[in-house]
Amino acid sequence: MMESDVIIIGSGVAGLISALEIDQSKKIILLTKKRLEDSNSYLAQGGISALLDETDRERYIEDTLRAGHYKNTRSAVDTLVDESRAAIASLEKYGVPFSRDAQGNLLLTREGAHSVNRIRYCEDQTGKFIMDALIAEAKIRPNIKILEDTRCNDLLIRDGKIYGVSASNKTNFNIYANFTILACGGLGGLFENTTNFRHICGDGVGLAIDKGIDLKDISYIQIHPTALYEDNSDRRFLISESVRGEGAVLLNHKKERFTDELRPRDVVSSAILEEMKREKVKYEFIDFSTIKLDIDERFPNITNHLRELGYDPRRDLVPIVPAFHYTMGGIRVDLDARTNIENLYAVGEVACTGVHGQNRLASNSLLESVVFGKRCAKAINISKIDFPRIYDLAWSSIDFDKVKKNIEERIREDEKSKTSQV
Ligand code: SIN
Repeated sequence: MMESDVIIIGSGVAGLISALEIDQSKKIILLTKKRLEDSNSYLAQGGISALLDETDRERYIEDTLRAGHYKNTRSAVDTLVDESRAAIASLEKYGVPFSRDAQGNLLLTREGAHSVNRIRYCEDQTGKFIMDALIAEAKIRPNIKILEDTRCNDLLIRDGKIYGVSASNKTNFNIYANFTILACGGLGGLFENTTNFRHICGDGVGLAIDKGIDLKDISYIQIHPTALYEDNSDRRFLISESVRGEGAVLLNHKKERFTDELRPRDVVSSAILEEMKREKVKYEFIDFSTIKLDIDERFPNITNHLRELGYDPRRDLVPIVPAFHYTMGGIRVDLDARTNIENLYAVGEVACTGVHGQNRLASNSLLESVVFGKRCAKAINISKIDFPRIYDLAWSSIDFDKVKKNIEERIREDEKSKTSQV
């Protein structure tokens, strides 16, 4: 058995930011199912959105609400937008190298449904650059113990209060703590056609269902318009929305444009799927040749990857297909990431504040992780610990074989309840 003040499950941006922002006097055990780098945050390409200045506030809020079909929780959107600049400042404090021009000014890009360029980025691997900086900091913090290749098998809850988790790596063991944070990602790995890591497959939501923890909007899932089409791939490689933001266009098999590439993601994905149906084809194309910038300089990771597969993105049309990308719904939390179980918090994609509504605005996910990860840490920092720690040496595990079925059932129920409300 092990013990600490806080347990964090998951090593994406939400888990790491929470770990780094919790007072260093508190001991933290952070467990992650594979390596620290194997999170969907690491794969994020496009960027992280933030308010330009106060004159952008209403516009940014409206962009987020419009993309979300006005199903968003307004207080969560206000919080996200109002705390966005502080989120960027925190990342810079941890050494994230946002791309800048020769004069040192921050560069800003655009993606679908944003009415202005307000997205900060690090080349075309924003997630990797952010994660590398946060991982480097987490590794030198003496209060953070990292357990890789470790799964959370169960949440230990008594009388509505969490007191630890059962976990496993080479052995099975319990960890006891005052606070637990779920930061273990969404449902992507459950879907065959996905941009997500296969192992990030609904563990957090599965644990929540097993324990009767409240969910919210679990049927709201996002399909990204432009994943690279390959005949056989375990995970579809993303072609960032910022590629369209910088001027790439979508073409059908007759080389004709068939949609406005910068509408919200769900609209563009539907347009592509309809066009595929109409043409009876398995993919459509993205054309990089309309981009005015040097694509190798602006998108080095994407263009290198395409070249490795034999495409010359300056010349060739690249096949794309919509793919599962993001879970908007999840474990219901308040604005400080609290679930309905005392001392249990949830942040990032596993959580649902309602901030994204029915469809997330591009580049609001890394931002959500930083803003609500910081709020979660603050809530824990100021919490009084006026309860004795429980030790219960029985190890337990939920039935992971049933997780997919349980989640599908809850998605169907959520869909049904939403249809009956219309
Ligand atoms: C992308 O680069 O298209 C993905 C960014 C996001 O999911 O917001």
